[in-house]
Amino acid sequence: MKKSFLWGGSVAGNQIEGAWDIDGKGPSLEDVVKLNEDPNPENIEIVNTVKKIEEALRDNNNYYPKRTGIDFYNTYEKDISLLGDLGLESLRFSIQWARIFPKGTELEPNKEGLNFYRNMIKALKKNNIEPIVTICHYEMPLDLVIKYNGWKSRETINLFLKFAKTIFSEFSSDVKYWIVFNQVNSAFSDPFASLGILEGEDREENRISNRFQAIHHQLIATALCKKVAKDIDLNIQVGGMICDILAYAKNSEPKEQLGNMNHMNSTFFFSDVMVRGVYPGYIKRYFNDNNIKINTLESDENILKENTVDFLAMSYYATTISQYSHDVIKQTGWNFDEGSVNPNLEKSEWGWAIDPIGLRIALNTYYYRYEIPLIIGENGLGAIDKLENGKIHDEYRIHYLKKHIEQLLEAQKDGVEIISYNMWSPIDIVSSGTSQMSKRYGLIYVDIDDYGEGSSKRYKKDSFYWYKNVISSDGETL
Ligand code: BG6
Repeated sequence: MKKSFLWGGSVAGNQIEGAWDIDGKGPSLEDVVKLNEDPNPENIEIVNTVKKIEEALRDNNNYYPKRTGIDFYNTYEKDISLLGDLGLESLRFSIQWARIFPKGTELEPNKEGLNFYRNMIKALKKNNIEPIVTICHYEMPLDLVIKYNGWKSRETINLFLKFAKTIFSEFSSDVKYWIVFNQVNSAFSDPFASLGILEGEDREENRISNRFQAIHHQLIATALCKKVAKDIDLNIQVGGMICDILAYAKNSEPKEQLGNMNHMNSTFFFSDVMVRGVYPGYIKRYFNDNNIKINTLESDENILKENTVDFLAMSYYATTISQYSHDVIKQTGWNFDEGSVNPNLEKSEWGWAIDPIGLRIALNTYYYRYEIPLIIGENGLGAIDKLENGKIHDEYRIHYLKKHIEQLLEAQKDGVEIISYNMWSPIDIVSSGTSQMSKRYGLIYVDIDDYGEGSSKRYKKDSFYWYKNVISSDGETL
């Protein structure tokens, strides 16, 4: 293994920080999302109108877990020193846009917001942890959602670039790796979180075109971020990120293989544009066939071509089965899954198919498609943990991570260049999809329940000690 490889962990501001209205922070997208305990992801209540946002902001009866997170805003020093004990080499985290520009439209940044991230990065450096920053992880000032329908408006690009330029200028001397959008292909599974679009306000027949319009703006913003970054400091590395949605065909029938190709193209579209700098022919055909029209500027073609990303980040949790026919009803619990259950794979308690070999396939697929370095931005197991006498015996999490790291090491032997592996997540945080605390991913247990009750105390799980050994032995001891 190359010495420069980093063993890391990954979190997102909106899932850990809390302090949603403290020190000048404005309300952000995820602050209006309620706890959802229904095991069926289809029943998750979607915020899709201005009225629903306004109701949520006035609502004193329901619990909004991301407003309080794990209170990391106040506990970051102690938490980061625990990550130092772990020996963590990199931490991927996000800078919340609404902490820096509370409404998105201010001319000057919020100094207290900048101070928080400056201190946090200082604490990481003190513990020898390399910061990897996600500029936008399902985060956007709510005002921009209401005023511009999120990323649907081209105006959002300029406001975002102002934010990006501010944080590049402030932090580039300490932060080398920047990921522009978390999983830019989340646009279809969660258009509110990913695009800030209020679909309840749009005419139904325009929804798909509107999503692609917003996606186009994010792809242009990704390219322009790279340009802005390099103008500030040539050493900054700017990456794009996708959630890997590897699918196997249902069977060997050619039409199922074709369905599989189309399924894979629905993710490749995002990485092809970010890495190759052009809209591929298959998406142009899809637009034509489905009467999808988006507004572009003449300069967009060059913007994309001249500013391709330096690396590709991907998250990897599960795989799925593709279907030629689209009338199949989603049968699994995975946030990104549109397919059916793979009988060959075990499932997590939330129904996500566990497929370590798929990780090796995905890493090889992306690396040899683009030949640029990869970052594994997320990989982990959401599970229910039991705290007993101050201990958590989470052998299931160790098993999951071990099996995936084995395949990562195989991919490295295959020649795949990987900058870092960032497991999700070194500490328990609020779930993105369901806002539950009980869906725990951490190596460190945080004593808070789904309703925000508990001592908030931190406990090292068995997986903490296991990963510490993996890191200190540089992957030799699994
Ligand atoms: C990823 C997201 O897709 O999945 C994270 O980037 C999220 O924000 C992770 O937490 C796990 O999903 P969930 O819904 O179990 O939290």
